[in-house]
Amino acid sequence: MARITSLKGRLLYNSRGSKTIEIDVITDTKHIGRVCASSGASVGKHEAMSFPDNKPEKSLEILKTNEKKFIGLDPSNLKSIHETLRTIDSTPNYSKIGGSVAFSLTIASIDAASKSEGIPIFKLLTKDSDLRFPFPLGNILGGGAHAGPGTPDIQEILVCATGSKTIRDAIEVNFAVHKELGKILAKKDTGFTNGRGDEGGWAPKLDNDEALELSAKACEQLGFTLGKEVSLGVDFASTTQWNESRKKYVYNRAGFENTPEEQIDFVSEIIKKYKLAYAEDAVHEEAFDEMSILTERFPKVLIVGDDLLVTNTEILKNAVKKKACNAAILKVNQAGSLYDAIEFAKEASKNNIKLITSHRSGESSDSHISHIGIATKSKMLKIGVVGGERIAKLNELLRISEYDLIRGMAEI
Ligand code: PGA
Ligand code: ZN
Repeated sequence: MARITSLKGRLLYNSRGSKTIEIDVITDTKHIGRVCASSGASVGKHEAMSFPDNKPEKSLEILKTNEKKFIGLDPSNLKSIHETLRTIDSTPNYSKIGGSVAFSLTIASIDAASKSEGIPIFKLLTKDSDLRFPFPLGNILGGGAHAGPGTPDIQEILVCATGSKTIRDAIEVNFAVHKELGKILAKKDTGFTNGRGDEGGWAPKLDNDEALELSAKACEQLGFTLGKEVSLGVDFASTTQWNESRKKYVYNRAGFENTPEEQIDFVSEIIKKYKLAYAEDAVHEEAFDEMSILTERFPKVLIVGDDLLVTNTEILKNAVKKKACNAAILKVNQAGSLYDAIEFAKEASKNNIKLITSHRSGESSDSHISHIGIATKSKMLKIGVVGGERIAKLNELLRISEYDLIRGMAEI
């Protein structure tokens, strides 16, 4: 068994060019586990705080002061790494040391253990031998907080090759749809610059309806039937539109407003018209009751909580009680540590809540979440379609397929 001999933190940058941290966990077997922290743009109110006072430098300082506490620990023992971290910061949202330390340190420990034991990360994280590939779910068109003015209010239109039988085919179908949509957009608007949003989806000057219409057209032009070989999904990220004082969803770019009741109809129409397989944060982050209406209305669609749940086990328990969703986004850095995120995954599985492990809009070129998605038995892996930091995760899935340890695709 390996032992941690030192830690090293450094200041780096994410895919948006914003400051972030990377942590190395070094073992007596001379292996280095290394993880660079990601961060979001549409951040949920209750998620872990990335850095104390928004200062990555402060996180690194606290880590350095406390490095000794981790020396001698077994890097594969996630619980002991987590508990040691909790002796330094016991705040619910890691406001003292920063959720990015919790994220990087715990995943880097497992990365170090994986290297020293010669066992892939997904195998270290689960004893279950019945493992499947989650379906890659990728952003083909971006708006909202991920793209500039003129783009749709809706944050993400997503594609998922729900009919694919292999991981390679699922990835290739997503590429094809993204590419076809690019051609359609260039044809429709001669001023289209091929510009893309933070997650690699196209960022055209379109309203919500046109964006959905053209995304559906891209699938159909390739000969796919929506809801069969290929399905569309939407991350409404509705908290961005929600105006708390007016109690309305304000769609600034399209120029309309929805009352909470109208929002349910607005979302329902989109789900039906485009045969969506996936609808994320269709209402704002505290609208559990409205989410329950959608969950009841669309039992076959993944009604997903992201900002609603923020990968928080206590909030998930409340959502389960209220039947507010049938699926949950798992973002390790919303929870904080990988230990926290795995506890969340266990609670979700226990309650039949389907998991979607997800990247953040500000990413690193790491690919550990591909392993985490498999180990948590996620149905989908929301990791984008194009862009180096997104491709890194897709390529890792293909490397994992060489182990021959995974039996086909997940059942959605
Ligand atoms: P974020 O958004 O990473 O910018 O928070 C992604 C999402 O809302 O799913
Ligand atoms: Zn989201």
